[in-house]
Amino acid sequence: MLRETQVELVNRVLGYIDNRTTQMNERVYLNDVSTYTSLEQARLERQKFFNEMPQFFTMSCQLPDPGDYFADDLGGVPILVVRGRDGIARAFLNVCRHRGAKVASGTGKGQRAFVCPYHGWTYNTEGGLVALTPPGGFEGLTCAERSLTPLPLAEGHGMIWVLPNPGAGFDLDQMLGGLAPELANYNMGSFVPYKSGIISKPMNWKLVLDTFLETWHVATLHKATVAPIFQPNVNAYDAFGRNGRLIIPRRSFKDMKGKPESEWDVPRHSAIVYTLFPNTLMVWQGKHLETWRSFPAGDGANSCVTEATLYLPKIPETEKEIEYGERNMKLLLDTVEEEDFPVATDIHMGAHTPAQRYTTFGRNEPGLQHYHRTVREALGLPDTVNAA
Ligand code: FES
Ligand SMILES: [Fe+2]
Repeated sequence: MLRETQVELVNRVLGYIDNRTTQMNERVYLNDVSTYTSLEQARLERQKFFNEMPQFFTMSCQLPDPGDYFADDLGGVPILVVRGRDGIARAFLNVCRHRGAKVASGTGKGQRAFVCPYHGWTYNTEGGLVALTPPGGFEGLTCAERSLTPLPLAEGHGMIWVLPNPGAGFDLDQMLGGLAPELANYNMGSFVPYKSGIISKPMNWKLVLDTFLETWHVATLHKATVAPIFQPNVNAYDAFGRNGRLIIPRRSFKDMKGKPESEWDVPRHSAIVYTLFPNTLMVWQGKHLETWRSFPAGDGANSCVTEATLYLPKIPETEKEIEYGERNMKLLLDTVEEEDFPVATDIHMGAHTPAQRYTTFGRNEPGLQHYHRTVREALGLPDTVNAA
């Protein structure tokens, strides 16, 4: 994180702590509960967010070397990303050009070619079909006509983003809305993926993001787990275009008071939640990183699937390093599975009742206000209600 950003954040957060307050928006924001239940909105989201918009796909460190690949279809589109022999990462629709089977699944290292599991058509790491088999069976066709269909991909700052639809390329830094220099500073390219988990829940996919966009609930809901780690009820939020950054100070944040500015270290004394619009959270946890990608499932409104991945600064080798990875993976999954997501599932059920037309985002929840306003704006829906 840039020095001048750190200085500004430390002054701001210590000010909140001293004054027993937190960042406050000017107004309360009332958000239409139909954002969680409307099938019409879900259809729009699939089209505009999950089809027409580039999304964070994975970290570069998932596929550091030629032939390394990562395939998934969580967003409803089967996508294969592979690093070619020239070191360039490319994305393809993971759809065999014979009859449409997936040519790869999961992740792998050093793959020389992808052999379709159905009839064995084989593609190189640049997506080209190697041979039309059986000989004579496809007369009149050429391999070149049957390459995997490429998708626009942008790689930078340790991340890989993909547009899940063939078309024009995109500018990653523009997508990041000014966050690029800050994210580049984490040197994420040097991290290693530790473990991933997939979580399916009967709730709207945006409730996964909501969970992370305020920490006012930590003192109550997470009393027994992460509450002792964090300074209660203090957040600092900044928007970067459609994205955002939420600073969640650890209790140790206060120790920076009185120290020279040159020793201030916000990432060490905070959890930092970056929202990468529309569906990704990148969470800096002091010494490691997590990514959360949330997708609509089923009818798009009422169920979701989320991938959570933990990245470590290096391959864990010692018992202590392995224990660190295991403990944090367990904490990550247990906290959401046992505490956050049961409440979020209840919220989803409540959204289907006539209890209220709006959910309320307080002045102290600027991250939620910005995210949900941005969702509506990006879908072309009218803003809902600013309470007086
Ligand atoms: S579908 Fe891939 S080889 Fe037939
Ligand atoms: Fe939580």
